[in-house]
Amino acid sequence: MAAFPKDFLWGAATAAYQVEGAHDEDGKGLSIWDVFSHLPGTTYQGTNGDVAVDHYHRMQEDVALMAEMGLQSYRFSISWPRLLPNGRGEVNEAGVKFYSDLIDALLAHNIVPMITLYHWDLPQALQDEGGWEVRSTAEAFEEYARLCYTRFGSRVKLWATFNETIVFIGHGYITGSHPPSVKDPARAIQACHQVFIAHAMAVKAFREMNIDGQIGFVNVLQPHTPLSDSPEDTVASELADAIHTHWLYDPVLKGTYPAELLAQTQALWGVPRFVPGDDELLRNYRCDFIGLNYYRRETVTANSGETLTQSNHSGEKNSGGEFGFKGLFKFVRNPNGIYTDWDWEIWPQGLTDGIMMIKERYGDIPIYITENGLGAKDPIVDGNIVDQPRIDYLRMHIDALEKAIALGADVRGYYPWSFIDLLSWLNGYKKQYGFVYVDHQQNLARKRKKSFYWYKEVINSHGNVR
Ligand code: BG6
Repeated sequence: MAAFPKDFLWGAATAAYQVEGAHDEDGKGLSIWDVFSHLPGTTYQGTNGDVAVDHYHRMQEDVALMAEMGLQSYRFSISWPRLLPNGRGEVNEAGVKFYSDLIDALLAHNIVPMITLYHWDLPQALQDEGGWEVRSTAEAFEEYARLCYTRFGSRVKLWATFNETIVFIGHGYITGSHPPSVKDPARAIQACHQVFIAHAMAVKAFREMNIDGQIGFVNVLQPHTPLSDSPEDTVASELADAIHTHWLYDPVLKGTYPAELLAQTQALWGVPRFVPGDDELLRNYRCDFIGLNYYRRETVTANSGETLTQSNHSGEKNSGGEFGFKGLFKFVRNPNGIYTDWDWEIWPQGLTDGIMMIKERYGDIPIYITENGLGAKDPIVDGNIVDQPRIDYLRMHIDALEKAIALGADVRGYYPWSFIDLLSWLNGYKKQYGFVYVDHQQNLARKRKKSFYWYKEVINSHGNVR
C-alpha cells in the first residue's frame, strides 16, 4: 500500500504568463515580462507569452481536460496587471471575471484551486516606480492580495504569495537574465527583503480578513552535494546552503534571517536595510505551509574565480557551462550524474533528502510539492506523444516522495510541472513539461500525451499504480 495520506492532493501546476496569452486584451496592463521579452536578445529565439498557449481563451477546454485526467487540485497564478493594470487603484473587472470563472469551473469538477499571487509578472507600471527595490511595491502587493482575497477568498482555500524568490530576484538582479536585468548583489538583497516584507504584509491581511484557508510561500528546493570531501568543497556546499536555502526559507518560516549571513551582508554592503517594524512583521506573519519546487540538485565546489552565469537554454546537452559566485562556490557537473538535455541532473533521492532537511530545520511545517517535472523534447511516434522519459522521471520522484512521507514528513499534495506544455521563460516552447501537448503547427490544438493517461491512473489509484 502506498503511504499517501487520505486527503493528499494529486495536482498539477502552471503560471499565468506561461499559459494565458491575451497579454494586452480586455483591459490587462503590461507586465515586466511583456516588455522585457520584446527586447532583442532577451529570450530563446525571441519567444514570448503574447499568445502563449492561449489558455485565456481556452480555459473551459483546459479545465475539461483536467477533469478528464482526474486532477484533484490545480495550482495556477494570477496575473497582477490583469487585475490591476497599473499595479494599484482601478480594478479591471474583465480580469477578475476570468479568474472567477476559472475558479468556478474548477470547483464544478471538484478540483481544489491553489493560487500563486506572484509568479514573476510584476506590473510594468510598478517597475517604472522602482519595482521590488521600493517599499511602495510591497504596499501595492498588499492591496492586490486584499483584492484577491475579497473576490476569491470564499472559494479558494490554498494560497501562496510568491513563487521562487531566488529565481526572479537572482536572475532579475544578479545574472541580469530576467527583468529588470540588473547585475548588483546589494540591490538583489534589498529587493529580496522587500519581497519578504510584501509576503508578511499579505499574510497579515489574510489573517485580518479571516480568510478561511492556508497561506504559504513557494521556494526552490535545491539540495547541494560537495564535489569531493575536501574541506574547501564542504565549506562551499555549506555556503550554497546558506545563500540558496536558509536565506530564502528562514525569513518566511522562522521570521528571521540567518544571523551570521545577515551580519556579513550588512557589513559588506549595508543591506538589507530594515525600516522600523520589519522585524515584527517577519516574526509575526509566517507561513501556514511551504511549497517546494524540486527539479534537481547541484554539485558544489569552491570557486576562487569570477562569478559565472552561463546556462543551457538550447536543449543541446553539455552546452550549459558553470554557475557560481565570485570567491564563494560554483555549481559543476557531477561526473556520475544523469542529466537532461538542458543539463539538469535527474536525482530523485534529492526530493526525499530535501524534504527531510526542511523538516529537520523548520519542524513540522505542512509541505506541498508545488512543482516537479521533466523538461524535454517529447518524442512523437505515429502522431502520439510518447513521453516515456517524463513518466519515468515522475514515477521515480513519487517513489522518493513516498519515502519522505514514510519517514514522517507532512506532505499534503504533489503538483507536477506542468499540466500543459507552456512557455519556458528563457527556453521557449521547445522545452516541454506538460501532460497535455500543444500543437503550435495546428492552431494550438491540445493532445493528450502518454503521461496524461499514466497520471490519470496514478491519481485514480491514489498513488498505488505508477
Ligand atoms: C520553475 C518555475 O523555476 O521552473 C517555472 O516556477 C518554470 O515557472 C519551471 O517554468 C521550469 O523551468 P524552465 O526554466 O525549464 O522553464
